[in-house]
Amino acid sequence: MCGIVGYIGRDRAGSVMVDGLKRLEYRGYDSSGVAVWTEEGIKQTKRTGRVAELEAALGDDLGGTLGISHTRWATHGDVTEANAHPHTSSDGKIALVHNGVIENYVGMKTFLTEKGYTFQSQTDTEALCNLIAYHYAKEPEVAGKNRFLESVRKSLRHVEGTYGIAALCTDCPGELIGARKGSPLILGLGEGENILASDANALTHCTRNVVYLEDNEVVHLTDDDFSITTVSSKSVEAVIHQVDWDTSEAELGDYDHFMQKEIFEQPTSLENGMRGRFSDDGSTAVFGGLNLNSQELRQVDRILFLACGTAWHSCLVAEYLIERFARIPVEVEYASEFRYRNAPLDKNTLVIAISQSGETIDTLGALREAKRKGYRTLAINNSVGSTIARESDGGIYQHAGPEIGVASTKAFTSQIMICAMLALYLGRLRDLSYGDGVAIVKALKKVPAQVEEILKQNEKIATVAKKYASYEDCLFLGRQLMFPIALEGALKLKEISYIHAEGYPAAEMKHGPIALISEDCPSVFLATSGEVFSKSLANAQEVKARKGKVICIASEGCDIPEGLADDTILVPECHEIVQPILMTIPIQLFSYHVALERGCDVDKPRNLAKSVTVE
Ligand code: F6R
Repeated sequence: MCGIVGYIGRDRAGSVMVDGLKRLEYRGYDSSGVAVWTEEGIKQTKRTGRVAELEAALGDDLGGTLGISHTRWATHGDVTEANAHPHTSSDGKIALVHNGVIENYVGMKTFLTEKGYTFQSQTDTEALCNLIAYHYAKEPEVAGKNRFLESVRKSLRHVEGTYGIAALCTDCPGELIGARKGSPLILGLGEGENILASDANALTHCTRNVVYLEDNEVVHLTDDDFSITTVSSKSVEAVIHQVDWDTSEAELGDYDHFMQKEIFEQPTSLENGMRGRFSDDGSTAVFGGLNLNSQELRQVDRILFLACGTAWHSCLVAEYLIERFARIPVEVEYASEFRYRNAPLDKNTLVIAISQSGETIDTLGALREAKRKGYRTLAINNSVGSTIARESDGGIYQHAGPEIGVASTKAFTSQIMICAMLALYLGRLRDLSYGDGVAIVKALKKVPAQVEEILKQNEKIATVAKKYASYEDCLFLGRQLMFPIALEGALKLKEISYIHAEGYPAAEMKHGPIALISEDCPSVFLATSGEVFSKSLANAQEVKARKGKVICIASEGCDIPEGLADDTILVPECHEIVQPILMTIPIQLFSYHVALERGCDVDKPRNLAKSVTVE
């Protein structure tokens, strides 16, 4: 959410930053801007709209040895050029880009206004920018002390809230400063150049040597050196990591959209999530990074899952699967609610956070709260080296590859796959038999090929989607394991096509939502073989009886009465544990094609951004 790129080094600041911003655009795309240090002062260019607008405005002006840049997802203030970052202090000395929220900016602004500083924007960031300028103006020149760095650190000590920042100063042509608290910031170490970015994606075109800053750390960069201290001026030993993923994975290739690419990558992402993770006897899963032995896991008598959005839907699937196959009671909480709630937890509760990005601030906050209370924490996470991965006691990487489309697709199915494997693993530590374990492993291994089969129905699903693209309401209904998939189907449709959609347990319809049914509100029924199949059909009949259109997504071999469904999409018959994965593919394709038909920008839906790093 919002993206930062800062650069110091050779004469290519503008081009490195624009390339970086393009790679970060999925983090926020309502406006963007760059500030480059020049002999005449800070030269700033900002545009509302996409990074392409900024690029066009810059033209060939892509040089400079020092600069900061930003792509914005608005929090404070409208989408205007004045509110776009970078911001410059009113004395023209300091330029700043910022991700996060400065909660006490109103007090700061009052104080600075009294001191004669003026404001051009409605943002919280400009208050911090002027505060740095204020401290810089007051800071005495002392040999051996860096005045710019001191003024940044002093200012940050006054901040309540969260920040990832990059700053430059007109008096300091060879210095770039970054800092983080609650909002990610990564330092990329190049040759004769150094880069700051809020996401590793934005710097791998320059270097793969990175340092992940921790909260309350401030980094001072020159073109060939860097040093890290805390906000309270203690020095920090940097650990250099190598980014080892294939950067082409984050590129569009032959696809029209990242969402489409990521839907079609699912056979591979699911295969990657399983690779090397089954026991030799083929009866259970094995995980390397849980940091909990079998005895410790057997003592767990409750699991609490925490997540947001789509990842929260994976937690609901995990609840069904772990309770069914491992017989451990599971609770699922919205991370944003848990972190401020006084939830009583048993001492043998294991807390598991699920997050694709590993940077979602609500999930991170909830994880920290659970840790603070002394609970053992695990993370299921897709982004190697993310804050959530680093701060949890152990975890499982999804290995789904970078997910760029704002609407989560491959990360969701890969989270379900990991949760199914976890259910198997925990089950086999308890009552689940060897034979049941073998059957589940076989079922899991078949999934990539089965997903491949479903993807072959792309054209058919596109045709069905076209029929329903002009409706303004839609319900997604399913029972048991299909209920979370119904929620996910509704979320996918609403976030990329702006159709109002709701997911419900199908039997709940008659307790209220059935009032919505008319010929103008179609319902997508998710009906898999199993004990509630006939009951789901009865719920579909109730919709049909009220002139509602029915789109039935069902397992092959399910007996759907003639005339019940207006459209039917079938997925291969499979073991119950993998049904949620297979049933998700048609709803992803359906939403994608509906959104295309409505002319929506599927990769950059309005008001949204990938990775929500503000509360
Ligand atoms: C919806 C979507 C979001 C995310 C949510 C959590 O398609 O992508 O609902 O699932 O913001 O994000 P992560 O998993 O990165 O914590």
